[in-house]
Amino acid sequence: MNYRHSFHAGGFTDVLKHVALCELMRLLTAKDKKLFVLDTHAGAGGYDLAAGSTQRTGEAQTGFLRLASASRGGMPPAFARYVTAVLAYDRKFGRPSGAKSDGAPTIRHYPGSPRLIRAALRPGDRLVACELHPQDALALKREFAGDRAVEVRQADGYKALKALLPPAERRGLILIDPPFEAADEFDRLLRALRQGLRRFATGCYAVWYPIKERHADEFVQELAALRPLMLELRLADAEPGKLTACGLAAINPPWRFEEAMREALPWVAAQLGADATARVEASMLPS
Ligand SMILES: C[S@@+](CC[C@H](N)C(=O)[O-])C[C@H]1O[C@@H](n2cnc3c(N)ncnc32)[C@H](O)[C@@H]1O
Repeated sequence: MNYRHSFHAGGFTDVLKHVALCELMRLLTAKDKKLFVLDTHAGAGGYDLAAGSTQRTGEAQTGFLRLASASRGGMPPAFARYVTAVLAYDRKFGRPSGAKSDGAPTIRHYPGSPRLIRAALRPGDRLVACELHPQDALALKREFAGDRAVEVRQADGYKALKALLPPAERRGLILIDPPFEAADEFDRLLRALRQGLRRFATGCYAVWYPIKERHADEFVQELAALRPLMLELRLADAEPGKLTACGLAAINPPWRFEEAMREALPWVAAQLGADATARVEASMLPS
């Protein structure tokens, strides 16, 4: 396991995933019923953007930080709420979020998915966060030490899908966000997802995936059979060898999620560059 999410924290791939995640959490917690959340590949919980790994790739600079520097007034509501959640996490570190001379926010600490989920939980809701890498699992355990709403497991997230579904709450969000290091990750994910759906058909599933090889086309076609709402973000001007496109499939998303994403993602793409594009479609054919 070589993948470390700290190299990619706050990059455009996190932006797509986390803007969608924040909106899913907001809509799913609007109903007065308890919610269970499973984050199968949780990462370390939070990331110091001043750390060497994050600095080296500079992904946050061209991702979250670039987008957050747009005028707040012009941001689509779902994106503005995501920015608010990120700034709130940064403020936990006791240092007021900075601002550049033009008033744009600068942050040092960027939240991972379990932190964004935790911020949206209500009393009685719960999160199980799985992370296999020993160092990141330890960081995650430290991040949520003493928090009774969050259970951190150093465990295989795919096995947790089988073990924990269906949840007692009968309402749940399952985020599946693997590193895609292994050649069989697409197949493993699809198998686990189908099994999850058999056990808990009414759950809301959010699956992030990279779009870089032929693998992704086949994967997207297999996913489409599960009738998700598919979100896609593509950069046009990234360097060769770098990931330039990614997607997120939302199965059983709550009402109004599609509307919010149709509003937010074209705006995100426009800020990321003249040739960047976004798509939100019920059944997406590879382009
Ligand atoms: C893309 S990162 C997760 C980022 C996180 N979801 C976020 O949005 O902040 C993928 C993580 O999955 C972990 N991982 C890899 N294989 C795993 C498995 N089978 N089960 C659980 N975690 C795994 C990696 O160590 C890595 O930290």
